[in-house]
Amino acid sequence: MERTGNILVIDDDPEMGEACRQALEPHGFHVEVATDGGEGLRKLKEGNFDLVLLDVMMPDVHGMETLERLREYDPDIVCIIITGYATVDLAVQAIKKGAYDFIAKPFDTDTLLLAVNQGLEKRRCSLEAKRLRELEERARRLAWEKEELERLERVKSQFTLLVVHELRAPVAAIQSYLKLILEGYVPPERQMEIIKRAEQRARDQLELISDLLDLARLRDPEVRFPTAPTDVAEPLREVVEMMRTKAEEKHQTLTVNIAPDLPPVIANTDHIRQLWTNLISNAIKYTPNGGRIDVTLVRDGNQVRGAVRDTGIGIPAEHLDRIFDDFFRTDAAKKMAAHGTGLGLSIAKRIVENYGGNISVESIEGQGSTFTFSLPIAEENK
Ligand SMILES: Nc1ncnc2c1ncn2[C@@H]1O[C@H](COP(=O)(O)OP(=O)(O)OP(=O)(O)O)[C@@H](O)[C@H]1O
Ligand SMILES: [Mg+2]
Repeated sequence: MERTGNILVIDDDPEMGEACRQALEPHGFHVEVATDGGEGLRKLKEGNFDLVLLDVMMPDVHGMETLERLREYDPDIVCIIITGYATVDLAVQAIKKGAYDFIAKPFDTDTLLLAVNQGLEKRRCSLEAKRLRELEERARRLAWEKEELERLERVKSQFTLLVVHELRAPVAAIQSYLKLILEGYVPPERQMEIIKRAEQRARDQLELISDLLDLARLRDPEVRFPTAPTDVAEPLREVVEMMRTKAEEKHQTLTVNIAPDLPPVIANTDHIRQLWTNLISNAIKYTPNGGRIDVTLVRDGNQVRGAVRDTGIGIPAEHLDRIFDDFFRTDAAKKMAAHGTGLGLSIAKRIVENYGGNISVESIEGQGSTFTFSLPIAEENK
């Protein structure tokens, strides 16, 4: 006969277990008997049971406690309480703790069969409901993943379009400068100037290509950069040394404050240099003559925090959330410095995030900006 359910009887009275077996097995149920709560739990864990008939007044672990443990192990297990001390109180307590039904000793075979069959039906329903919930959850996750993939696909094609657009502009300009000369529209004394303009656009193009390559490599999960415990202060000193002349040309005051004994971070030194270069070059570039740029580097708990503050043109509040987007440049920035890829901050953000840090900006239009980044310090120094 086909098995219609696996039943575990937990009762300290072996005769009770035997009686259940004799009542249930002829109806195709597989029955196992345990004489205390501990053995019952063990059997439940070893076997594949659908329903437990549980005596709540057993001596070792009180039946109520066994009930809790059984349901902790398998929340869908159906427990039917059997006891000789049939009080309403116990019944209510057991049902509150998750028992499905309650039968009082002595009971006849029909009462037992009815309770068991109803219990098994309940088990089938709750397993089916669980399966449906899981399917629903999977469907939801798949839908979300599909949406995410479509979104990424859109971002990718938007990025490609932007790149093509940005790459096209300098080539078109160079071509028109050369055409002017080739077709004889430029007198010899002005030719040098036009060639210089063409050369500048070629330089812009190369800069753009090299920024794009950097960004692509930084965003490629397959590319592994060599990392080591790296001092954040030393690249800062190098970058400031390199950029000081530029600031002096603009009569800007450039100060640097580095806290002593800063612990290293795990990173690639070239990336840290590139991060400082992008932030400090922006500060110099977008601050008018005579302004101030203050760079600080301190420890902040388990992180080092770098900040570049300037008294420059600032960023309009409505553009602050786009400032780290690829190619984004404000109108005021374009007016102040015609050349720029709009990728410097994308690169800076990616570098910081690749090493588990974050970067943010505060700015007031017309007054200045502060770019702040944090990087986690190397583990052994925490
Ligand atoms: N310190 C700053 N003050 C004001 N605006 C800034 C500052 N730094 C960045 N920005 C704004 O953010 C935009 C993006 O900066 P990002 O460094 O990515 O590109 P860029 O400086 O325009 O070009 P590139 O870095 O290639 O020279 C800038 O065009 C400017 O509008
Ligand atoms: Mg820049």
